[in-house]
Amino acid sequence: MDKQILKIPNHVAIILDGNGRWAKDKGKKRTEGHKEGYKNLKKISKYIFSKGTKVLSVFAFSTENFKRPHEEVDYLMNLFIQGFNNDTGYFQKENVKVVFSGKKDNLRKDVVDAMDNMTETTKNNTKGVLNICLNYGGRCEIVDAVNKIIENNENNITEDIFQKYLYQDLEDIDLMIRTSGELRISNFMLWQLSYAELYFPNCYFPDFNEYEYDKALIEYTKRDRRFGSLNNE
Ligand code: FPP
Repeated sequence: MDKQILKIPNHVAIILDGNGRWAKDKGKKRTEGHKEGYKNLKKISKYIFSKGTKVLSVFAFSTENFKRPHEEVDYLMNLFIQGFNNDTGYFQKENVKVVFSGKKDNLRKDVVDAMDNMTETTKNNTKGVLNICLNYGGRCEIVDAVNKIIENNENNITEDIFQKYLYQDLEDIDLMIRTSGELRISNFMLWQLSYAELYFPNCYFPDFNEYEYDKALIEYTKRDRRFGSLNNE
């Protein structure tokens, strides 16, 4: 590519996939992969926001992930609590507002407390928004929105009104990255992904570093986004 200026997506979303395989390749336990994944999320989110992106959504735990062995689910829940409690200061320093998408009603109380504390502490930060999808399913988000609309007796629903009933009122996703080489959306942010560019790097999430993200931006810059029309952007 010639010296074209990189386009910066406003909203990036990442399916954090491949922690288990990363660990297995190194002869470690799957849980070590999740630990490394969390460490990497802190590093790569800082880099992504430093490039000018305003919203980063990540898929941390799907509603279906509860079907995993009890020990792995417990490990992940404890990792979330530890991460949120230890890193409120980090996100404050980075001026990042942390929000959550997903269902809270069947999560452990200590997990919900750590989430609420993180949201409350970081609510006035302005550099970027980190939207953590935890106990999240895309279809469930849409059904929950419909139920809230019915409860509110709303009529004449438009796309803009509908969006306000989703877990978070965020702009559309511009670039969706799924690490590990899997080519699926897996029930992630179905509404918000409508016009997203999709990118599937061939590395596991713990290895998704600054160099890999730069490659994603180069690819994103080359894409011709027409949003259904004949003209681009
Ligand atoms: C997918 O890898 C990853 C998960 C189910 C958990 C993702 C969680 C983290 C990276 C920790 C992030 C923490 C926060 C607070 C956002 P996998 O287990 O499906 O890997 P595999 O496909 O190789 O088995």
